[in-house]
Amino acid sequence: MSKRWEDWTAQETTDFQQVFLTWYQQEKRNLPWRYNQDPYRIWISEIMLQQTRVDTVIDYFYRFMETFPTIQDLANAPEDKLLKVWEGLGYYSRARNLQTAAKQIMEEFEGEFPTTVEDIRSLKGIGPYTAGAISSIAFDLPEPAIDGNVMRVVSRLFCIEADIAKASSRKVFDEAMRKIISYDQPGEFNQAMMDLGSSICTPTKPQCELCPIQNFCQAYQEKRQTDFPVKSKKQKPKDVYYIAGIIENNQQEIFLQQRPESGLLASMWLFPLEEISAARFEELQERYDPNRWDLFSDALIAEDSPELFSTEAVVWQKKILGEVTHVFSHLRWHIIIFYGRNTAPLTLEGQWVRPNRFSNYVFPKPQQKMLEVFENNLADDKD
Ligand code: ADE
Repeated sequence: MSKRWEDWTAQETTDFQQVFLTWYQQEKRNLPWRYNQDPYRIWISEIMLQQTRVDTVIDYFYRFMETFPTIQDLANAPEDKLLKVWEGLGYYSRARNLQTAAKQIMEEFEGEFPTTVEDIRSLKGIGPYTAGAISSIAFDLPEPAIDGNVMRVVSRLFCIEADIAKASSRKVFDEAMRKIISYDQPGEFNQAMMDLGSSICTPTKPQCELCPIQNFCQAYQEKRQTDFPVKSKKQKPKDVYYIAGIIENNQQEIFLQQRPESGLLASMWLFPLEEISAARFEELQERYDPNRWDLFSDALIAEDSPELFSTEAVVWQKKILGEVTHVFSHLRWHIIIFYGRNTAPLTLEGQWVRPNRFSNYVFPKPQQKMLEVFENNLADDKD
C-alpha cells in the first residue's frame, strides 16, 4: 500500500470510499439531526456539537427545535428565552452567534439558508469546520469538515507528521480530505469520519481490529497508530491576578458589571474585577482573615486599600471573603474577593441588582464560583 494520498490510485480511492461508506450505512448512530437534510437542523446540531458531547446535545437539540422551529423564530427570539434554552450547554456566545446569523439569513438571504460554502461561511459563528459540515451534509457539496476527530483519523491513515496544534497544519488535512472524500456522498463520508473518530479511531486505545479501513491505514501497517496525531504540548495558561469587589448598598443590592461585547466572556455579568500584580495578590492573601472587618475613613482608604475600593471612597466597610481560581484554555484567573458596604453612588459602570434577580443575568463560571464563596460566607455569618 502506498503511503501518501497523492499516491493513491483512482481505484484505491474508490475501494476505500466503498468500504468506508458501507461500514457507515451499517453502523451509523441514529441521531435526530440525521433524519433529513434540513440545513437549519444540521446547523444547530453542528454548533451544539462543537464543544459538547453527542449524548448531552440530543435533549438540548429537541428542546431547541421545539422552541424555535424555524430560522425566523430564532431570529425573533428574546435573548433571555434563547439563553434559557441554552443554559447548561456553556459557551453562550454560540447561542448569540446563532441568533445573529439567523437575522443575517432573514435580511441577506430572504429567510432561506444559503447554499454555497462562501455564503454559509459568511454567517456569524460559522468557521471552516461548520461550513464544511453543513455544505456536505445538507447540500451534498464535496467539502471537508475537519475537526480534531477527523485530523486524528486522517493523520493515522497517511502517517501525517504535521502538528495538529498548529493552525498552519490545517491545509495538509484539507488537501488529503479533498483527495479521498466521496463526491457522491460527501455528507455521509464526513459523518463516517466523525463516527469512526469517536468510536474506533480513539485517541489512546484505537480499536484497530474493528476498523473498516484498517487495510488502508498506513499507521496500522507500521504499528504506529498511537504516534499520531502529532500534537505539540499546549502552552501553560498564563496566570492573571484580580481583586473582585462584591459591593452591597443599603438596599441589599449588589453591584454587577457587564463584560465588553467581544473578547473573553463577552457580554456576561460579573462582580467588578480589577487586575493587580502577583506581588500585590500575595500581600492581600497574607492579610486574609475571615473575621476581620476594616472600617475606613476616606483618608485611610486612599492610603491602604485594595485598588478597586481606593477609587471608590464610598465603600466604607469591607473584608476579604476568600479567593477562587478559574482556568480558561490560555489563562488562569486568580481572584481575591472583597466584600464591601457602600452608601453613595458608584462611579463605576454597571447595575445594582438584588441577589434574587441574579438568575436573569448570565453568569460565567468564575462568577458562579465567586457567588458561591459569597453565599457560603453569608451562611457563616448566620451561624
Ligand atoms: N460531531 C460533530 N458533528 C457531528 C455529527 N454530525 N454527527 C455526529 N457527531 C458529530
